[in-house]
Amino acid sequence: MNDLKIEQLDRKKFLRTAGSTALFAFLGIGMIGCGDSTSAMEDNIVDKTPDDGDGGGSGISISNNGNTITIDLTASDVTALNNIGGWLLINGANTLVLNVGDSVMRAFTSVCTHSGCSDSWQFSNSLFECTCHGSRFNTSGEVVRGPANRDLAEFSVSRNDDIVRIIK
Ligand code: FES
Repeated sequence: MNDLKIEQLDRKKFLRTAGSTALFAFLGIGMIGCGDSTSAMEDNIVDKTPDDGDGGGSGISISNNGNTITIDLTASDVTALNNIGGWLLINGANTLVLNVGDSVMRAFTSVCTHSGCSDSWQFSNSLFECTCHGSRFNTSGEVVRGPANRDLAEFSVSRNDDIVRIIK
């Protein structure tokens, strides 16, 4: 059985972050996703396990003992990645994926380097935040606010048109 489950971001959280976005734009601080303020409202969390294979119409398949993730950007459950600043948390593979623009995707471990939370992430103002204790990481996976003191490991990403492949 395909256990694909998608959760939506809280609308209030989005509206709060939209205010921060405006402040950063006013200050001239470069950001990803300014042009698409709706991306944070889309589905960003996908529970997908390696055993799910590629059945059920999902745009995500996980293979090689969880070490290879293939994403079909035309699928309906990964639409969040089609916008600059769009992101996904693939829980079954402990992976964060981010569209950084110019058709480039970056992928990082979702296992926080502070104390290992892996499923409590937000992304706004070009920063990932682990909501377990508030550590923040930039779009290169570098720590910008503790308590974490180590960067997120980045995975290799290749793209061929609408197919994105992540190798851990
Ligand atoms: S586990 Fe992420 S901030 Fe503590």
